[in-house]
Amino acid sequence: MKLHFSSFRYIINILYKEGEKVIIKTEKELEKMQEIGAICALVLKEMGEAVEAGISTLELDMIGKAAFARYGAVSAPIACYNFPGYTCISVNEVVAHGIPSDKKILKKGDLINIDVSAHKDGYFSDTAYTYSVGEVFGHKKKLMDCSYRARDLAIACAVAGGRLNELGKQVEKEAKRNGFTTIKNLCGHGVGKTLHDEPESIYNYHEKLDRRIIKEGMALAIETFVSERDNYVEDFGDDGWTLVTPNKCQVVQYEHSVMVTDGEPLILTVPDASFLK
Ligand code: CO
Ligand code: CO
Repeated sequence: MKLHFSSFRYIINILYKEGEKVIIKTEKELEKMQEIGAICALVLKEMGEAVEAGISTLELDMIGKAAFARYGAVSAPIACYNFPGYTCISVNEVVAHGIPSDKKILKKGDLINIDVSAHKDGYFSDTAYTYSVGEVFGHKKKLMDCSYRARDLAIACAVAGGRLNELGKQVEKEAKRNGFTTIKNLCGHGVGKTLHDEPESIYNYHEKLDRRIIKEGMALAIETFVSERDNYVEDFGDDGWTLVTPNKCQVVQYEHSVMVTDGEPLILTVPDASFLK
């Protein structure tokens, strides 16, 4: 994800930025994007299958480390940001950038978000999923379902010629419909030759000033941040990474990397080994 403190000046700056350099043009490039997409999805799936009460988030991250090595991919958080973990693992009130730790032991009823991003042969992908430890019901379940649906509504808007702000509009609408809010300073982003590529800042709300148009060949990391109440995150403690809302609200995020085609959006982060070279 891309941390972004919204300001009018910044929004105006990005409105007319040319995004051509990150357009995926050739079949070869698409194959590379599908391969790294599948790798990230397979790593996430493997880690997700190990989620259970009693395991630490460091143990989960080590599963990710081993899987990256097996697939010949490199963790993007480490390569790009020197993050202290192979993946970001955020439990309960931690919204994003949770640091894997042997002291963080999962217990029944926890919500755990695992965010996997990596590169191989110069191409990046980014995907995330929120798991519950055991089954959850009521409010937590409703929040999870809402964010999941919001992600799919946003993905459906990733069509050539459409407006980029339509994605956030859908996410915000779905959140409101369920009595929730969205996080305004965490955004989706372009993904491809770098982890956080153009177009920058795909908002989780309807930003009316954003006039950017979606183009065929764009690859977008679409990630929804649906919140119980608070609508922004801030640093927690002094580790320089962990993000929480002011009232430590539960926030649920899901993320897929998606290619804009001449037809339907193509989800790149599918756990399908047939895309591996
Ligand atoms: Co992302
Ligand atoms: Co991510």
